[in-house]
Amino acid sequence: MTQLEDRTAGGPPRRPEPRPDRVAAGELVEVAMTVNGTGVAVSVPARVHLADVLRDHLGLTGTHLGCEHGVCGMCTVLVDGAAARACLLFAVQCEGAEVVTVEGLGTPDDQHPLQQAFSAHHGLQCGFCTPGMLMSSYDLLDAGPDGTAIAPEELPEQMSGVLCRCTGYRGILAAVADVAAHHPDGLPGPRNCAGRTLVGRGGGRSTAARGEEGAPAPDDVAPPAEVRVPAGAPSATVEVRSELAAPVEQVWAVLDDFDRLARCLPGAELLEVLPGDRFRGRATVALGPVRLSFEGLAQVVEREPADHRMRVLAQGADAGGSATQADIRLHAEPAPGGTVLRADAELFLSGRVAQFGRALAGDVSRRLFEQFAAAVEETALTGRATSVPAGPPSALRLLVDLVRARVRGFLPRSRGRGGNR
Ligand code: FES
Ligand code: FES
Repeated sequence: MTQLEDRTAGGPPRRPEPRPDRVAAGELVEVAMTVNGTGVAVSVPARVHLADVLRDHLGLTGTHLGCEHGVCGMCTVLVDGAAARACLLFAVQCEGAEVVTVEGLGTPDDQHPLQQAFSAHHGLQCGFCTPGMLMSSYDLLDAGPDGTAIAPEELPEQMSGVLCRCTGYRGILAAVADVAAHHPDGLPGPRNCAGRTLVGRGGGRSTAARGEEGAPAPDDVAPPAEVRVPAGAPSATVEVRSELAAPVEQVWAVLDDFDRLARCLPGAELLEVLPGDRFRGRATVALGPVRLSFEGLAQVVEREPADHRMRVLAQGADAGGSATQADIRLHAEPAPGGTVLRADAELFLSGRVAQFGRALAGDVSRRLFEQFAAAVEETALTGRATSVPAGPPSALRLLVDLVRARVRGFLPRSRGRGGNR
């Protein structure tokens, strides 16, 4: 990848020199654009279309591909505010463009009104056409009060650019009509267009995307010099409260010593201590057949010894096309018999690791923090870090514990319901 320098805040990187007028179809071309509010730069063959860049190079798999001939509309995205078939646009045609995909429309916790309406009106079954339907209907209604003033009887023709093989269209049309009726002043804008890290699925040299936070793509991007606060909605949040037998001052002594703290992190390895309370490290996680080895930076950005609090930002990427960022707050409080250690973390996942889903990512992360707390306790009590395995945590163990925890959590509720009948 050729990195593009001189990034404009919030927009695509500025190109240092003009692009050649003609290139061969297979020749790599640098393309800079803004996708869902994040400036990205990719280096791709000239013949690659926008949908493949979104899906394979930026990990935005919400844009679906059906016909790849401009017929089905599944791949519809917004380019500079207008609906476009991403399978019919070469990526190089999008130099400097503002692209919004279905991921930019909203999040599971903060859905756009169109997404809410599709759900409420059963406007999807298999969901394959849904991203195209959402982006097409967004384009249709997005013209201020005139856009949402559309008459319901116009919708069948206006929405005919995207094909659905499941629903019979009635739920889809009802959803769009509902949103139009409830927003006479105009359609609300996208809700998830904040800077974030974008990493493709395939990894390797063809993947070349960077978010505003500067998290590296694998292989050919120099590690970032500093760790930034992640932006946008997290993939998962974790809150773990652990009761430790060690006194709070001994627990804090472990947290305040990054070498010992890193040894308490399951599967983590401290590689280098850098100026500015920064640390370069590696962390390995195995989930079933998938083994992820992240390398990146961590930085202590807040440290309050009197209150035994600290905040750590971390970011890393693995060679398989996954990237993580974390905003972690640790707080040790004195408690009868020892210490309560609280770990609150926001996790931001992209690329392959994001495919595990927020629930599994949250549960596994929670388990890792519990292991971390146990290791902190042992280190605080014994003065040595001995208990955390050097290798990756066992995925099987994690998943078995996870299933057990879910079953335990389910049983009392089941019994309670049964008893009330
Ligand atoms: S995949 Fe683009 S129109 Fe069918
Ligand atoms: S919901 Fe299955 S194709 Fe539309």
